[in-house]
Amino acid sequence: MAVKTIEWRGDRVFMIDQRLLPGKEIVRAYDDYRGVAEAIRTMVIRGAPAIGVAAAMGVALGIKGHAGKRAETRFAQVAKTLRATRPTAVNLAWALERMERALRENLTLEAPRLFRRLRDEALAIYDADLAANRALGKFGAELLGAEATVLTHCNAGALATAGYGTALGVVRAAREAGKRVAVYADETRPFLQGARLTAWELRKDRIPVTVIADNMAGTVLRSGRIDCVIVGTDRTAANGDVANKIGTYPLAVLARRHHVPFYVAAPLSSIDLACASGEQIPIEERSPLEIAEFAGKAVTPKGVGVFNPAFDVTPAELVTAIITERGVARPSYAKSLARLKKAHSPNAAGRSAGQARRPTG
Ligand code: MRU
Repeated sequence: MAVKTIEWRGDRVFMIDQRLLPGKEIVRAYDDYRGVAEAIRTMVIRGAPAIGVAAAMGVALGIKGHAGKRAETRFAQVAKTLRATRPTAVNLAWALERMERALRENLTLEAPRLFRRLRDEALAIYDADLAANRALGKFGAELLGAEATVLTHCNAGALATAGYGTALGVVRAAREAGKRVAVYADETRPFLQGARLTAWELRKDRIPVTVIADNMAGTVLRSGRIDCVIVGTDRTAANGDVANKIGTYPLAVLARRHHVPFYVAAPLSSIDLACASGEQIPIEERSPLEIAEFAGKAVTPKGVGVFNPAFDVTPAELVTAIITERGVARPSYAKSLARLKKAHSPNAAGRSAGQARRPTG
């Protein structure tokens, strides 16, 4: 996809404002960590891996001008603000931990060099995510036939990552391998990531896409036209329970009912072995207005109750396979995920910071 989700240029962070797509392609610039935190919270940028990259870049911006003890104190404040933005995507906490390690290893550097070192770490996280998506895309593509129709939910594409995408990375890789792939995209109420974002980026890449309302998935699956479901994840627990956009769980139930494989595309940065099961995954609740209003207009009577959990948990037993950049995990996930994660080092999927983009000072 030609448009960049997030980019570091000239000590500023640029993000396409995903709230305005597909109507307007507006790129916003941030030079301060508070702005980055607000961009994550208000969903200028969203999608677990993209949130992780944004948080890492936010840390680098936040540390600018600080060194030594002051940098440590500053990091605590910056990380607290960024961590509070969205609780479910584990990539956020994962990226903050990685930035903290880089900070602690370089506390003797003076402020300008420390800033450049942390900027490079953020860029390495970006590069590693892109590489992971390309690698998992290749593994996933092998699961598809020469002609395949994929049903997806939310947006697990280039817009949700550093680029290429996870679920949509599999679609892209299959197409690059010469397969004929078409996509059905759930609209994904209430934020419409499917209708607005998945449809937008697939159209840009000329990949055939058909948007359906979420409540049509059962009919579409029963019709026999779907070969597999592929979704992303915000956090997958050690036992293979998958937290993803609200509406993923009913889709998995429907897929099982209709004997359609249900795949989860998950970079290892989205797998949280510290969470034994989905029960420990924090589920974000967002503003009731996302449900009570549509395009700024009230759609429910004033004063009615609204429940708006942003994610649900799909039990591992409904997941056919989890596609990672190190291979495809099959049940039992407690074993297969632990094995893949063990072989994973922070920089395994990309170059490490300081290798190719060495600080200039
Ligand atoms: O609320 P969002 O838009 O951030 O939710 C995004 C999802 O649920 C994605 O499927 C998930 O983050 C994986 S993105 C590769």
